Amino acid sequence: MRRAWLLGLGLLACAPPDEVAQGRRFVEDRAYRRATLEASLVNPANRYSRVRLASYALASEHGPLGWDAYPEHNPAVRPWRPTPPPFAPVFAEVPWTHEALMALGERAFFGWPAQPAPEARGVDPDQYGLWVDADGWVGGLVEGADGQLAWTCASCHATPDAAGRLVPGLPHVELDAGALRAHHLQRPADDPVWRWGPGQVDVTTDGLANPVAIPDLRPVRYQSHLHWAGTIRNDLPALAVRIDTLLITAWPEPARPPRQVAFALAWYLWHLAPAPAAAGSPEGAAVFARVCAGCHGADGTVGAPVALDVVGTDAAAGRSPERGTGAYRVPSLAGVGARRQLLHTGAVASLAELLDPDRAEPGHPFGQDLDAADRAALLAWLATR
Ligand code: HEC
Ligand code: HEC
Repeated sequence: MRRAWLLGLGLLACAPPDEVAQGRRFVEDRAYRRATLEASLVNPANRYSRVRLASYALASEHGPLGWDAYPEHNPAVRPWRPTPPPFAPVFAEVPWTHEALMALGERAFFGWPAQPAPEARGVDPDQYGLWVDADGWVGGLVEGADGQLAWTCASCHATPDAAGRLVPGLPHVELDAGALRAHHLQRPADDPVWRWGPGQVDVTTDGLANPVAIPDLRPVRYQSHLHWAGTIRNDLPALAVRIDTLLITAWPEPARPPRQVAFALAWYLWHLAPAPAAAGSPEGAAVFARVCAGCHGADGTVGAPVALDVVGTDAAAGRSPERGTGAYRVPSLAGVGARRQLLHTGAVASLAELLDPDRAEPGHPFGQDLDAADRAALLAWLATR
C-alpha cells in the first residue's frame, strides 16, 4: 500500500520521554486511566460521560473490574481486496520507542477492526463513496478469519490524494455511511434517520438527527477539545482513553483492545500534526490577526469553545443529550487548506464559501463582512496553512 506523508514528515522524530511514560502508565495503572477519564469529561451528565464513568477502570455492573475484565481482543484480519495477504493479528507488543509506537499505531489505524461492517458486503463501492486504493483495497475494510467485515479508522479518517495515495487523518468526504446503512436495513434511501449525506456520521445513540462531519485528525494534537461538541478535554492520555473506550463500546461482544494498541493509535494520531506553516503574506496574516485570532491561533492552536448562540451554526449536535456541552470547540486550522468540508455540519465546501457574505449555511459570521481586498488576502493566506 502506498501512503502519502504530505505534512507530518519528520516532525518530532524523537519524542519527549514524559510522553512515553504517559503511555506506560496508561497501560499499567488503572487508577491513572480512571483519573484521566474523569478529568477529561467536560459534561459528566451527558450520556457519553455517564456510560464511561459507570464502567471504565471501575467496579460496575460488569463486575469488580468493570470493562477491565473484558477479554483482550486481537483477531487475525486481512484487508478486503481481490488478492489479500494471509490473515494476521494486528498487535504484537512493541518496545516503548517513538518509531515502534508509530509503526504499531499506523498498522492499527489501517488494520484494526474497529466496528463490524456487515452492510458493506456486496455493495458497489462507488455508489456509497468507499475509496478503492491502487491494490483494489475497498474502503479500508478488513475481513476476519470468521468472514466478518469490519471498518477501520482509515475507512472514514483517510482519503486518497490526487495521485491515489492514502492520506491518513484527512476525512473521506465521499463516504455515505448513512445511505449504506439504510440500504442494509432495507430502508428507503431518503429515510431521515439515515440521510446524513456524504462525509457525515451520526455517532450518537440519542435518537435525534444530529450527524456531524468526519473531522480532520491530522491536527488533533492542537485541539483543545475532542469532538465538535467539545465533549472531552484533550491531551495525549485523554486521547488514548477516548480511543480505548471507542473500541470497547463499538464492538458488540464484551471485548477490549490490547492497551498498547489504544495508546499507539493515540500516539500515531498525535504525531500526524502538520508542522507549523511558514508565516505567509503579511497582508493575509494581518487580517487573520484582526478578525480570527481571538479564537483560532495562526500557529494551529485554538482558544476556548464558543457558546452555541455565539457561533450560530446548527445547534443540534451541540445540544445532543449524548455529546452536548452547550458549545462548539474551535477547530484547529492547521492543514485547513486541504479540507473539503468545513464546520461541524460539513455543509460549507471551501474557505471562499465560508467567508462569502451570501452563503446559505447559517452561522460563523466571522469574516463575512470583509472588503474584497482583505478577503482575498485572507483566503490566500489560509490556503497555505
Ligand atoms: C464510520 C466512520 C468512522 C470510523 C470508522 C472512525 N471514526 Fe473517528 N470520528 C468519526 C466522526 C463522525 C467523528 C466526529 C465525532 C464527534 O465530533 O462527535 C470522529 C471523531 C474522532 C476523533 C475526535 C477528533 C476530533 O478532532 O474531535 C478521534 C480521535 C477519532 N475519531 C479517532 C478514530 C479512530 C482511532 C478510529 C479507529 C479506531 C476511528 N476514529 C474510526 C467517524 C469515524
Ligand atoms: C468567536 C470565535 C471565532 C472567531 C472570531 C472565528 N472563528 Fe472560525 N470557528 C469558530 C468555531 C466555534 C468553529 C466551529 C463551528 C462549528 O463547527 O459549528 C469555527 C470553524 C471554523 C472553520 C472550519 C474548520 C473546520 O475544520 O471545519 C474555519 C475554516 C474557520 N473557523 C475559519 C475562521 C476564520 C478565517 C476566521 C476569521 C475570519 C474565524 N474562523 C473566526 C470560532 C471562531
